[in-house]
Amino acid sequence: MKMIARSWFTWLILAALDILCVSAQDYPLPESCTGPACIDIGGLTYQDFSVIRRESDGMYFRYSKSNNTGDGLSVATAPALGGPWNYAFEILTELVNPMVTDRTQTNVWAPEVHLVNGTYYLFYSINTPPFNFDLCVATSPDMEQDNWTDHGSMNVPVSTTGDDQATASYVRLDGNMLADSTNPSGVDNFTYMTFGSYQWGLYGFQVSDDLLTIKDGATVDMVYLEQYNPGEYSGNKTEGAYLLTNNGYVYFFYSIGNCCAADDTDYNNSVYRVQVCRKAVTDLPTGPYLDRDGVDCLTGGIDRAGTTILASRDDGQVFAPGSIGILDDPDLGMVIYYQYWNITQANQDANPKLDGLRFGYNLLSWDSDGWPQLVASK
Ligand SMILES: *[C@@H]1O[C@H](CO)[C@@H](O)[C@H](O)[C@H]1NC(C)=O
Ligand SMILES: *[C@@H]1O[C@H](CO)[C@@H](O)[C@H](O)[C@H]1NC(C)=O
Ligand SMILES: *[C@@H]1O[C@H](CO)[C@@H](O)[C@H](O)[C@H]1NC(C)=O
Ligand SMILES: *[C@@H]1O[C@H](CO)[C@@H](O)[C@H](O)[C@H]1NC(C)=O
Ligand SMILES: *[C@@H]1O[C@H](CO)[C@@H](O)[C@H](O)[C@H]1NC(C)=O
Ligand SMILES: *[C@@H]1O[C@H](CO)[C@@H](O)[C@H](O)[C@H]1NC(C)=O
Ligand SMILES: *[C@@H]1O[C@H](CO)[C@@H](O)[C@H](O)[C@H]1NC(C)=O
Repeated sequence: MKMIARSWFTWLILAALDILCVSAQDYPLPESCTGPACIDIGGLTYQDFSVIRRESDGMYFRYSKSNNTGDGLSVATAPALGGPWNYAFEILTELVNPMVTDRTQTNVWAPEVHLVNGTYYLFYSINTPPFNFDLCVATSPDMEQDNWTDHGSMNVPVSTTGDDQATASYVRLDGNMLADSTNPSGVDNFTYMTFGSYQWGLYGFQVSDDLLTIKDGATVDMVYLEQYNPGEYSGNKTEGAYLLTNNGYVYFFYSIGNCCAADDTDYNNSVYRVQVCRKAVTDLPTGPYLDRDGVDCLTGGIDRAGTTILASRDDGQVFAPGSIGILDDPDLGMVIYYQYWNITQANQDANPKLDGLRFGYNLLSWDSDGWPQLVASK
């Protein structure tokens, strides 16, 4: 009986895959990753990776979401991008944000680290129940466990309609500072942050010179529209934006689709994947961002703007990839890293999601039109 159940399940997954694959294109397999922290055995716990190489000793630090409500951010370290990766410690187990009234009920999410003028800036989101997000920042001279100073909220105003799940126009999560490929761990004079929102669009704002708050008088600008109709299922929700300047353009990457379920066949075409739009570096990175076909990201919800650069592989080894970051590695060159599931494991496990979220990365190259693509290493 077990065998029959299993083969039915396998068949269902394969059938679903056929429908789920947004692109027929096969992306390169991730480069090899060694060490226990390559896979999150617990499922959806250590997600939203941010990786940075420490200047003083070349050690790689990888930040990810807390593994349980009430925990801090999880930090893994490795001597090289390929590993061996080991969990090192947790940070931000205490938080100064006054929204946090019960630390044991607060999640710390979506870390992103940049090195600016010799200081490491860690941008992160908190979520306090029932649904109150905020964008926050902490700093450190060396990223050691006890050497972080939490500065709390970046003071981005709550959406005019509130952070309430049903009515918000944006949600203060997944902050991402514009990084510059010529200074990959730093921030250019743009000092612009994107954030949001998973059903409520992607937004951005100018950041203060000290990088700790929204700039005085700055507005919150929409940069990617979504089609969200309260009360009705709407796929292709967006989050996890990542900004990069390169080739005279600002590239606006984001994750789109249903996050983060390897076993969710209800959403068919709307499985998590990564898209990009861009604009020339001429003025502030508030848009418009256009995709490869010249479609404005702001029409995304209606016309499905955005050029897909990473999606599930046909063979299931990379499924629902997303939440990218980009690193200019001294050894490997420009690298894109992401989270993914490997649902070939579905043959052995009735719940592929429990097989764990994995850390993947590939070399990033730029085609003759200046669009990014993942390439296999030689
Ligand atoms: C959370 O993860 C850290 C490693 O980053 C580990 O030390 C800790 O025990 C975990 N906490 C729980 C409650 O699993
Ligand atoms: C924290 O950083 C300072 C330098 O600012 C350094 O002297 C000290 O050793 C660091 N502390 C830890 C615990 O690493
Ligand atoms: C970094 O240094 C430059 C040059 O001194 C200065 O203009 C800028 O404000 C500094 N940025 C931060 C975040 O301290
Ligand atoms: C999500 O986007 C895909 C690709 O553009 C499209 O085929 C699908 O219909 C969209 N799903 C929803 C629920 O809108
Ligand atoms: C997805 O496709 C399956 C198989 O065709 C179908 O049974 C299911 O209703 C679809 N789900 C949605 C949300 O449309
Ligand atoms: C950023 O600063 C550099 C050097 O001052 C300048 O060339 C460039 O135009 C500035 N970029 C923007 C978008 O203002
Ligand atoms: C996926 O899992 C299979 C089975 O364990 C393994 O052989 C393969 O290397 C994995 N691929 C990736 C990209 O994780």
